[in-house]
Amino acid sequence: MSNRKDDHIHSALKQQHVTNDFDKVRLLSNSLCSVDVNDVDVSVSVFGHTFQTPIYINAMSGGSDLSKEVNQKLSVIAKTFGFPMATGSLSAAIKDAKWYDSFQVINGELKEGFKIANIGLSRSKEDAQKAIDILDAHALQIHLNAAQEITMPEGDRTFKHWKERLIEIIEFVTVPVIVKDVGFGMTRETVETLNSIGVKYIDVSGKGGTNFIAIENDRRDNRLVSFESYGLSTVESLLDNQDSHDITLFASGGIRDAFDIVKSLALGAHMVGLSGYFLKLVMTYDIKKSIQIVKQLIDDVKGIMAVLNAPSIDTLKEVDKVFHQDLINFMNQRKKGK
Ligand SMILES: Cc1cc2nc3c(=O)[nH]c(=O)nc-3n(C[C@H](O)[C@H](O)[C@H](O)COP(=O)(O)O)c2cc1C
Repeated sequence: MSNRKDDHIHSALKQQHVTNDFDKVRLLSNSLCSVDVNDVDVSVSVFGHTFQTPIYINAMSGGSDLSKEVNQKLSVIAKTFGFPMATGSLSAAIKDAKWYDSFQVINGELKEGFKIANIGLSRSKEDAQKAIDILDAHALQIHLNAAQEITMPEGDRTFKHWKERLIEIIEFVTVPVIVKDVGFGMTRETVETLNSIGVKYIDVSGKGGTNFIAIENDRRDNRLVSFESYGLSTVESLLDNQDSHDITLFASGGIRDAFDIVKSLALGAHMVGLSGYFLKLVMTYDIKKSIQIVKQLIDDVKGIMAVLNAPSIDTLKEVDKVFHQDLINFMNQRKKGK
C-alpha cells in the first residue's frame, strides 16, 4: 500500500513553478547605492527568539521512511543556518507510534534549534499537545487545508467544528500557535477572524508554489482539474493583509529564490517559509552542496537588499513598489469590501 506522505513528496517534486505572482511585483530604488552588503542585517525577533535570517523550513515531512530521511537532511540545514524548522503533520505519529522516529529524527541535530510541530483541526487539543511533546517543539503550526481534504479521495469532509477546535487548542497548549494555509493563501477576512479568536501568528502560505489540489489530483482517478487554480497567491494574501497590524505575518508558498524572499519581506512578511524549495534541494543534492546553495541564497538576499538601499528588514518595507495590472485589479476589487 502506498504511503500518503510519500505520494505527496513524489508529486511535489514533479511540480515546476516557473512564474508566479512574485513576478508581478517590482521593487525600485536609487541606483546610487549607499549600503555595503556586509552591513545588511537580516536578523529578526519572534517568539522571544532572535534568528539570524528571516527564513524557516516549512512543514512537510514525517510519517514514512522516506520522510524520515528528508527530515534528517532538513534538520542539518536548519542547524547550519539557525533556521526554525517545522515538521509535517504529526497526525501519522499520533495514529501510530511507529512513526515517532520519523519526526524525532530532527532532535539529533536540533537540540538547540527552534522546532515547530504541525497538526490539523481534525485532532483534539490533547493530540495537539501530544504533537508538541513528541517533538519537544517550541511552537505549534495548525494547518487549514479544506481544499486539499475535499480533493483527497480519502479526505476529511467535516469542517464545522474547526473554529471551536482552534479556540480549544489555543487555550490548551503551552507554546505559541501559528495558523497556516497549505498553499491557497488567506484573505484579510480570514486573518481578522483568526485574530478575533486570539491567533497572533499567521502564515498565509499562498498559491504560486506547491499545489496540493494538483497533488491530490495525482492520487485520484478523475482529476478536479479547474480547481487547481483555486486560492489566493502569496503576493495577493500579503497585499490583502497590509493593514493587519496586530498579527505577525509569515509568508510562504511559491518562494523560488532570494528575490522572492526579499519581495515577501518588502510586502510586510516578518519571516519567509520555504517547503518545495528545500524538498527539491535535499532530494537533488548531497548535504554539502545543499549547504553551499543555501549559503548563496542568504548572501543573495543580503546582496539584493544592498542594491535596494535597505540595510534592514524594516527599511526594506519602505522600498517603492510597482505592481502589475492584475494585482492592481485585485486590490481595487478587494477595496470595495473595506
Ligand atoms: C511534500 C509536502 C508535504 C507537506 N505536508 C504538510 C503538512 O504536513 N502540514 C502542513 O501544514 N503543510 C504541509 N505542506 C505544505 C507546506 O508547508 C506549504 O504550505 C506549501 O507547500 C507551500 O509552500 P511551497 O510553495 O514553498 O512548497 C507540505 C508541502 C509539501 C511539499
